[in-house]
Amino acid sequence: MCHYCGCRQIPLIRDYIAEHELALGLGVRALEEAGRGAVTEAQATVAEMRAELQAHWQGEEEGVFALMRGEELYREHIDPLVAEHRELDALLGRLDMASADDRARLRHEVDELRVHISKEEDGLFPVTLVEFNGPEWDAAIAAWERAHPGRTLSYD
Ligand SMILES: [Fe+2]
Ligand SMILES: [Fe+2]
Repeated sequence: MCHYCGCRQIPLIRDYIAEHELALGLGVRALEEAGRGAVTEAQATVAEMRAELQAHWQGEEEGVFALMRGEELYREHIDPLVAEHRELDALLGRLDMASADDRARLRHEVDELRVHISKEEDGLFPVTLVEFNGPEWDAAIAAWERAHPGRTLSYD
């Protein structure tokens, strides 16, 4: 995780990172519930993880990603990340936590999500600090607000 460049001080980036931690935590919880036979709870936790990620992905894709895709240099890094969002969304939508194969699949996907997140937190987000000025931050925050109706960024 990037602790050096200061991007964690930006409220929007800090919220993206908090959403990553929330989604990973829900994935781990679903596996733990499934592990002790609480399949119904595990299935509900997977649904919650998917809903959190859908809002998170919308915020990223319409915000920081949309702004950075204007540059070819960044586009080639962003497009594969967006493809991974769609793949994980589809998988979470059809995951059956009563199936041992699907539980193994979720375990794998939680590990993959960690890799995906580190590409964002260590790769893309630090770049925003260099590339973004006031108007870009305003546009990225507006996208986050559209993705999270009724919520405000945690400015503190
Ligand atoms: Fe992402
Ligand atoms: Fe993300």
